[in-house]
Amino acid sequence: MNSKQVVLITGSSTGFGRLFAETLARKGHTVFATMRDPGGRNAKNASEIRALAEKGSLPIHILELDVTNDASVDRAVDGAVAKAGRIDVAINNAGYYLTGLEEAVTTEQAQRLMDTNFLGPVRVNRAVLPHMRRQRSGVLMHISSVAGRMVLPSTGFYCASKFALEALAEAYSYELAAQGIESVIVQPGAYETTVFGNGVMAADEARTNTYGAVKEIPAKVNAALSSTAGNAQEVADAVLRIIETPAGEKQLRYVVSPRNIGVDEINALSKHVQANVLEAFGLTADTKFVKGKAAGTV
Ligand SMILES: NC(=O)c1ccc[n+]([C@@H]2O[C@H](COP(=O)([O-])OP(=O)(O)OC[C@H]3O[C@@H](n4cnc5c(N)ncnc54)[C@H](OP(=O)(O)O)[C@@H]3O)[C@@H](O)[C@H]2O)c1
Repeated sequence: MNSKQVVLITGSSTGFGRLFAETLARKGHTVFATMRDPGGRNAKNASEIRALAEKGSLPIHILELDVTNDASVDRAVDGAVAKAGRIDVAINNAGYYLTGLEEAVTTEQAQRLMDTNFLGPVRVNRAVLPHMRRQRSGVLMHISSVAGRMVLPSTGFYCASKFALEALAEAYSYELAAQGIESVIVQPGAYETTVFGNGVMAADEARTNTYGAVKEIPAKVNAALSSTAGNAQEVADAVLRIIETPAGEKQLRYVVSPRNIGVDEINALSKHVQANVLEAFGLTADTKFVKGKAAGTV
């Protein structure tokens, strides 16, 4: 694989996605910074990114991509391949936070969250994989969360969306290793982006109001998350290091967090159990599972 890679990023209008685009492009990687509606709701963000790219002669191209829309995903992936000839890395970054007592989250809110945080990566991976399999190389990167491994009250649906993403990304890693394609999971802790400000509140206030003191938990959790949030550039720097790690040497999971709450211990235990499971099913060779490589920190 060429050391300068072609990277498609979802949710590049703000936050991590935008930082990834700038950080990777400054190192010479070609970036397709995708976002919803760059001519409308994200017009200001898109023009700021274009101005930055022009000023620094950075290889950043903006494309429209809504992860909840199959046609939009396919159009963006086809557009990137038409321009660059390949896609080496797909960063599944688009996502949002849903907070509130679980009983107060409507089924419609839950469906919408899963449609973005879980089915979004499903759509993107299905669109990029035929190209990566033709290349016999590529990286599916999944921006999960430490919330993909641990649970706080009032974050159950968000955690569920990230747990689901983790399961899928791990299964992909086993199935695609033989074709030279890596699937990696990045698990950020709390970082300063617009994620908490853009969070959706559980809609059923009538139910929330019956919970007494427990109804204060979401506000307590959100205040703690915001007050301990780190500098998001740390995550962008970690993503750069992962992308520049040679093919075949990447780990499955990377924790990137301002504070250590022990998620790497869960990852290590899970790696141990997975080794046993794959061995028990006679799948170690098929999945190219390497005991020492399934988890780590960057
Ligand atoms: N910040 C943290 O502490 C933290 C920690 C762990 C994990 N994460 C994860 O990191 C990822 C990025 O979040 P962030 O912190 O950078 O928050 P952010 O600044 O709010 O960025 C979220 C991005 O996702 C985009 N998005 C939402 N729905 C979309 C859709 N249907 N199609 C395409 N793009 C969509 C948003 O685009 P619009 O501008 O169009 O809304 C925005 O660009 C998320 O998956 C989040 O769960 C964040």
